[in-house]
Formats: sequence, structure tokens, C-alpha cells
Amino acid sequence: MKYNFDEIIDRRNTNALNTDGFRQYIFHAGPDKKFNYADEDFVRMWVADMEFKTAPEIIDAIKERADHGIFGYTRTFNDDYYNAFCDWCRKKYDWEFPKEELMFTQGVVAAIYQLIGIMTEKKGSLLITTPSYKQFRGAAQFNGIDYVCSDLINTNGYFTIDFDDFEKKASNKNVKAVIWCNPHNPTGRMWTEDELKKVADIVKKYNLWIISDEIHCDVIRTGNKHIPMAKIMGDYDKLVTCMAPSKTFNLAGLMLSNIIIRDKALRNAMRSTDFTSGSLNPISLAAAQAAYEKGDEWLDGLKEYLDGNFAFADKFFKENMPKANFYIPESTYLAWVDMRGYFVKGENLSEFFANNAGVLLEGGNDMFVGNADGFVRLNFAMPRSIIEKGLNRMAEALKNK
Ligand SMILES: Cc1ncc(COP(=O)(O)O)c(C=O)c1O
Repeated sequence: MKYNFDEIIDRRNTNALNTDGFRQYIFHAGPDKKFNYADEDFVRMWVADMEFKTAPEIIDAIKERADHGIFGYTRTFNDDYYNAFCDWCRKKYDWEFPKEELMFTQGVVAAIYQLIGIMTEKKGSLLITTPSYKQFRGAAQFNGIDYVCSDLINTNGYFTIDFDDFEKKASNKNVKAVIWCNPHNPTGRMWTEDELKKVADIVKKYNLWIISDEIHCDVIRTGNKHIPMAKIMGDYDKLVTCMAPSKTFNLAGLMLSNIIIRDKALRNAMRSTDFTSGSLNPISLAAAQAAYEKGDEWLDGLKEYLDGNFAFADKFFKENMPKANFYIPESTYLAWVDMRGYFVKGENLSEFFANNAGVLLEGGNDMFVGNADGFVRLNFAMPRSIIEKGLNRMAEALKNK
């Protein structure tokens, strides 16, 4: 392979959330919290960024932009970035959108927090499916509104939508907006056209806002094809699509996300509370543009490597953790593993695996809002040798369970 995904890179001393932020993020604890393992001995399978260097084509673009030496106020005055991203959307998802709909935020979470405030006018409630990325709950809490959960149905590790329940909750007069995760974190589901159409019909029937968070749409198993909700809801203005190069190319720290907003009044409302006045970080812009223009081959390599990681993990679970239920996800580099065969209700699995296996992972209802008790999420975007070490430690810790 042209790119080396086996390389182990030391991330310490880079102020990485992954290496230095786990006490606060996973355990809500300060620097005094002690574990049975030293910080540098942990296998870190938690936050959703990768242990791989980004594509060399992107690093070259960053260097080239850095060599220019002037980093003054920057916005997208020409069409170069739009063309690069729109070409990507056309090529990958047979979908495109007009330039005026494209806005930028410093991360998808920032967009969602802002959008939910505007869409709901900070009243009523927000509908999400559970298990859920916890920042969707955060968007409701930040804006002082309620959130309503529709539990996904779990059939041997394969998750589907409970449409009756979803519609019942969507029909509640208080519900103003849906955050739809497509593909879904943490289950990795890539919703089929039929599933998306049914969700779209419900959203339209009750005239709800919908934010389709598609941040994971490029990291999918080889051969799969992402369907943007915007393709299904071609005629619906109350839809916002969130995409970004951050998960795909490991650029989360560069904080540039694409927010595609159909409704003009909503775009104006977003602008009126954008205190950066649309300014962008020039390094981030150069990196994102290079990603969409030149990152395809690297992404194919990444997907191939991740396919291998999941095949490895699947075999490992079957042979060494037989009571764990794991289904190779259709997308993302995250595994959603049912550990209920080993634990009683309400046990804190992050604490257990940190102390007994030296593995940092996220799981349960605190991290994933609901319908998540007894489940852990493992990040497999790392060299296979590290995964092997982590899974071996987990299997050893579960031996007497
Ligand atoms: C579904 C989903 N949305 C948003 C984010 C974070 O987006 P950002 O870093 O752009 O704020 C994540 C990160 O894990 C995610 O899984």
C-alpha cells in the first residue's frame, strides 16, 4: 500500500484531547484521579479521531500555505473550495447543492448548538434516536430545551429504527426539530434509502426541522455508498446537512465544517450570530480543499485498512470474547460492542476497562444518552498492532467474568 497505516505515532505533548483529556471527558475527573495504569501505558480507543497521519497530499498543501507566510483575514471569495467540495459530493454521493447554501462553522457541534437554538427559539424539544452521540443531548441542554429519545431496535447487534415510536414522538406538539445521524454514531448504521424515506415522510408530515449530521459519511466500509438525506428530501427547505473533512482525514483540530442550509432566513439567522463574520483559518481552508481535491486515493487506502481492522476484531471477539456481541459496522471506524454478557446493569464499563485492562473507551448511557447500558464503543482507527494489544488486554480482564 502507498500509505503506511501501520506506523505508530507518539501523540504525547501535542495537547491532544485523546492523550491528555480523558480524565475530564470520560471520567468527569481532575488530574488527581489515579488508575491502575500509568497514562502512557493506556491503549486509547476512545475519542473519535485517528492515530493515523493525515494524507501526505494534505500535509503538503498545509506546508505550501504556511510557506506563503501571510495569514491575514480569510474567507471564501472565489469558488475554488466550493468547486472542490461540490465535485466530491457529486462523485461520492451523486449529489450537489447551490453555492449560496454553503456556510462554515468551527466544527459540526458548534453548528448544531447554534442551529437548534434558532430552529426551536429555545422552546419545546428536540428528537434524537438512541444510543446517540452525546452532543445531540448537549444541544438541547445548551439551549435549555428538552430532548426526546426514540430507541433504535437492536437485533443481534444490527440496529434499526422503531418507526412507530419515532412517529409517535415526532407527532408531539413540543417537538420542533430532529437531529438525524447519517451514518449513525455509535452503531455505524448506514440508513437505506427506504429507511431514510420513511424518516423523511415523518419529518415532513409534522413539519419539523431536521439537521442531518453526516460527518461520518466518507469513512464507510469499502463498496458501500452514502445517501445524503438531502437527496431524499429534495423539496424540503427545513433541512440542514452537516459534513466535514474532519473525521475522514483526521483534521478535527483544524475546525472547519461544511454546513449546507437551504432556508434563506435560517442562513441569515446563523450569520447574525456568527461572531467571526464568516472568517476562516487559512491553513484549515487549504487543508480541507486539498482533502477534497487530492485525498481520494488516501481515503481508499484508509478504508481498506479499516476493513482489515474490523475483520481482525470480528475474529478476535468470536474467539476470545464469546459473550460480547459485535457486528462489523457499515460505516465509521467505531465498533459498538454489546458487553451485557459480562456485566450487570449499570456497571461503569469505562472504569472497569481503564483499571483492569488499561484500555480507554467510552460506553453506557452517560456517554451515549440512552439505550446504551452495557455497551462500549471502541475506536479502531489505529495501527492493527495497537488494536491487538487492546483487545488482548480486554479479553484477559474478562477471563473470570
Ligand atoms: C455524529 C457526530 N457529530 C459531530 C461530531 C463532532 O464534530 P466536530 O468535531 O466537527 O464538532 C462527532 C464526533 O465524534 C460525531 O460523531
